[in-house]
Amino acid sequence: MTESRFTQQQRELPEPAEGSRPVPKLVLTIIFGLLVWAAYYLYAAYNPMPSALGDNRIAADFAISTQVDGAQLYAANCVACHQANGKGLPGVFPPLAGAEWVNADKPDVLIAIILHGIQGPLTVDGTQYNGMMPHFGDKFSDDEITALANYLRSSFGNAAPSTDAAHVATIRKAGATRLAPWNGDEDLRPMLD
Ligand code: HEC
Repeated sequence: MTESRFTQQQRELPEPAEGSRPVPKLVLTIIFGLLVWAAYYLYAAYNPMPSALGDNRIAADFAISTQVDGAQLYAANCVACHQANGKGLPGVFPPLAGAEWVNADKPDVLIAIILHGIQGPLTVDGTQYNGMMPHFGDKFSDDEITALANYLRSSFGNAAPSTDAAHVATIRKAGATRLAPWNGDEDLRPMLD
């Protein structure tokens, strides 16, 4: 058994020294970064921004157009009598195509007809009709009557100036107390000029 060259004390590891070992800068940077991200994440979650839908679309992108469609109103309410081509049925339902009632410079008569309807003899294109035109004043809003009037005045070969909802409102107000339909030529013809 050979005796070590070193003394017992020399073979001991040195006493561990108490040094200051700060958290590595890299770890601190990562933690700080996570905190900033978390704060932003919470902020974004509670303040819905354009990204709230998960992409760049916003709620307005899903809104359905509120524009009233005159062609659709015509198809749903007038086609049965005045026909898809606006030419009516000879002797029974008068034509809207080329009719002076539709194409008058002022849209007032057309609006008044849609609001209150007609009964009694009415001359259209030199032909006398004597039927019942229903009233739509309580069915349609000013916007709808505007869309309908503008559609009629720009379709079936018609090309008369358009109107707007403010004007329709004026005509509606003027006839607010009227309950009966217009009495054909007698009531309406004076309104043409
Ligand atoms: C039930 C059948 C019927 C429906 C539905 C109807 N009309 Fe009429 N319309 C008539 C008749 C009939 C006359 C002629 C009235 C008369 O002889 O006094 C007329 C006349 C008119 C006139 C004046 C005459 C002309 O040809 O220019 C206009 C304008 C008119 N209608 C627009 C409309 C519009 C717009 C609608 C839909 C919102 C509509 N009508 C729905 C039957 C109808």
